[in-house]
Amino acid sequence: MVSPINPLLKEPLPEKDATEGIERPLALLKHIPEDPLPLIELANHSIVSARQFTREQIVQLSRVAAKHEAVPAQTRRPLVGKILISAFYEPSTRTRLSFESAWHRLGGDIMSITDPATTGIAKGESLSDVAEMLNNYGDLVVLRESHNDAIYEMLKTLRIPIVNAGNGTDEHPTQALADIYTLFKWRPELMSEIVPEEQRVTIGIIGMPSRMRTVRSLLYLLSLFPQSFKEVIIVCNEENVFAENQRENLEVTGLKLRVVTELNKELPNLDVVYINSIAWVGDSYEELGKEFQLDANSPLKKGAIIMHPLARGEELATELDDTPHNWYFAQARSAVYIRMALLTCLVQHNW
Ligand code: CP
Repeated sequence: MVSPINPLLKEPLPEKDATEGIERPLALLKHIPEDPLPLIELANHSIVSARQFTREQIVQLSRVAAKHEAVPAQTRRPLVGKILISAFYEPSTRTRLSFESAWHRLGGDIMSITDPATTGIAKGESLSDVAEMLNNYGDLVVLRESHNDAIYEMLKTLRIPIVNAGNGTDEHPTQALADIYTLFKWRPELMSEIVPEEQRVTIGIIGMPSRMRTVRSLLYLLSLFPQSFKEVIIVCNEENVFAENQRENLEVTGLKLRVVTELNKELPNLDVVYINSIAWVGDSYEELGKEFQLDANSPLKKGAIIMHPLARGEELATELDDTPHNWYFAQARSAVYIRMALLTCLVQHNW
């Protein structure tokens, strides 16, 4: 007997959802006057920390990303002949593939390392020696490494830019770029110099700024736009929520921070709910705040959006995927366009 065809194959593929399409990036484009100068300053620089970006660079990177997303037919291929060395010594779905997708879309070629055991590192070669070799083999390195200091070790000998794609518990600056670009697509007015009180939003971050690289980098970028947020509420029931001086350095920018331990009490007032539960530590990961969960019964504010850097665990129920609260898939999609914008700026072009 012929086995029955899977019902999924009988239906046409689903339509795009409300967070896809070109309307939102087009609206963002209209909101930002072009100014290439802040981006020219990025040429031939490495990106290790979200602290390296200025407010103007974030705004202009978002503009370029929105252009790539809204009018892909106008995307040139400035990276033809350029080689990306994509070195991921820790698992990744989104970051590696969106960086590689971005580079491909810009016309470049890629060499990928997904296992340090296939390089001289397995024989005890130092990262700085590996980096010295990479100078001759490519035009830019993207590195994910479980150890906070690995990228600094490579920087000692690198003469081509390197981009931090997640270094241990320290930072994930380009995830934060994708996060803030997504926020600006949702509400373009948040990037204005002056945001009226009634347009400011309250963001809740379920996570631990002292140990989660995505949260640490995102907070740096939010602190460049302190007047856009009524309050940033950290939901965490661990000790040492902040690293030394982290909270003070954020608050001095004007960002209003509050730490709470109860999620459902805050949810009805949150416009943005950012959730994450994974922190990389050494060669493994730990799950933090597993007791904080979002599902269809969570008392979410009408119109609130949920963001998550993914991969998710039990903290984010799949039953929320088909609701308007789901902006986490849009966030993952945004990563391609914002990385296209960044990569084009970093590579040294020989015009
Ligand atoms: N957001 C993120 O870093 O996802 P991956 O671990 O899949 O790269």
